[in-house]
Amino acid sequence: MDERNLEPLLSVAAAEAEPEDVMPPVDAPAGWSLARREAFRDFHRASFTGLDGPTRTRMYAILAGGEVVGMVRMTRCEQPGTVETGMWLGRSARGQGLGAAALRELLNAAAAAGMRTVVAETTPDNPGAISVLRKCGARLREDGGKVRAEMCLDSALPAL
Ligand SMILES: CC(C)(COP(=O)(O)OP(=O)(O)OC[C@H]1O[C@@H](n2cnc3c(N)ncnc32)[C@H](O)[C@@H]1OP(=O)(O)O)[C@@H](O)C(=O)NCCC(=O)NCCS
Repeated sequence: MDERNLEPLLSVAAAEAEPEDVMPPVDAPAGWSLARREAFRDFHRASFTGLDGPTRTRMYAILAGGEVVGMVRMTRCEQPGTVETGMWLGRSARGQGLGAAALRELLNAAAAAGMRTVVAETTPDNPGAISVLRKCGARLREDGGKVRAEMCLDSALPAL
């Protein structure tokens, strides 16, 4: 992510995603109010410096056909060599296999950054996310109403 693709990403988020799927909660009027849009920009700008910056997070815009359609990120965990991932796509880009393709790219980027493990957390009522994680070789376990996923980068990714 950088300043150039931030406005396109915000346009996709505002038109095709729920705030709670794409950014942390903020004290602002419901929906894509001006205050929430500014908080969305600040949230992404805070991670422009990547894994060694203040948020320890690297964010990537997901592009399809040259257009920004979503975002995937990795955030350093306490455990050395481990990052946590999360992602979202605009509604019109879902259900086409882009999520798994983007996660595979993220796993490659994490390995290139020297990571050994990528973890993720979702909920049992998110079949799209669970399927994407499975397709990328994640081991899944349910824990207190959450689904926790672990992908080991030492082993080869399953073929698509
Ligand atoms: C989760 C997400 C990134 C998945 O990406 P995607 O590109 O849509 O995933 P895919 O196209 O590979 O679809 C995944 C699978 O889930 C299925 N699926 C997707 N949404 C579904 C739904 N609402 N109900 C049932 N199945 C669903 C698809 O049919 C597909 O099935 P398959 O693997 O058998 O082919 C995307 O749906 C999204 O952005 N969701 C909103 C944000 C979110 O939940 N992020 C994850 C938080 S942990």
